[in-house]
Amino acid sequence: MNFLNRIRQRKTFKEHNKVTMDLIRSRPLPRHVSIIMDGNGRWAERKGLPRAAGHRQGVEKIREIIKASAELGIQYLTLYAFSTENWKRPKEEIKAIMSLLVEYLRRELDELHRNNIKIVTIGNIASLPEIAYEEIQKSINTTSANTGLQVNVALNYGGRLEIVTAIREISRKVANNELNISDIDEDLVSNHLYTGGIPDPDLLIRTGGDKRVSNFLLYQIAYTELWFSDATLYWPDFNVKHYLNAIYDFQNRQRRYGGVIEKGEN
Ligand code: FPP
Repeated sequence: MNFLNRIRQRKTFKEHNKVTMDLIRSRPLPRHVSIIMDGNGRWAERKGLPRAAGHRQGVEKIREIIKASAELGIQYLTLYAFSTENWKRPKEEIKAIMSLLVEYLRRELDELHRNNIKIVTIGNIASLPEIAYEEIQKSINTTSANTGLQVNVALNYGGRLEIVTAIREISRKVANNELNISDIDEDLVSNHLYTGGIPDPDLLIRTGGDKRVSNFLLYQIAYTELWFSDATLYWPDFNVKHYLNAIYDFQNRQRRYGGVIEKGEN
């Protein structure tokens, strides 16, 4: 019986998680984990509840996964909270998502700050409703000097828009003679994305069963390891055990970045 199976046989959920956490911590951790938290709506519909109830339960999971990430020692966690395409949803649902975001930040900011967690956003937050914008700014400002886990919340985020915005900014600099065309390389483009200065994700997790990346971190995930849940696991049911399984799976993959692994090398 392998080690993980032995762990699975342990009695309590907490005990399982503790042993798995120790095992995972003893191996190279992903520095940056990104998550597409999909399936809130379907989770609610399956239970005969309004979609907003799924988002509410989803927020509780965000809390749990942030806590586990900080305990593990992960440096960056990027959460896809609201995409540039999500504006197509019914007004009521958008309102519910924004209210939950505000409620979450009001409720959790002190604790996030006490735990040395830094909140950052990626995306165009200026066009969010004013109340959400203000609460986000407050969280960013309050936690800006923190040195623990950095949580990047993707809000009004689109990967294509991010690349277009970077191209515009680089072109503007070339036109103003601040840059030469020959200065444009992969690092320069990276540094003009919303995620400039943040290492690319090592692991991308998507719940809900769909195997696509939905306009998320398109440039950054070139060599990211992808982990898709099966179709029955919606984000509101995702828990620390699933998270640890995804990271454990990541730790057992061989990353070659297009190269080859020499014999004896790992
Ligand atoms: C995906 O499920 C979830 C979302 C688009 C919204 C998630 C965002 C929040 C709950 C806001 C709070 C954010 C923070 C950072 C506190 P879905 O609605 O696409 O599910 P479906 O695929 O089943 O329809």
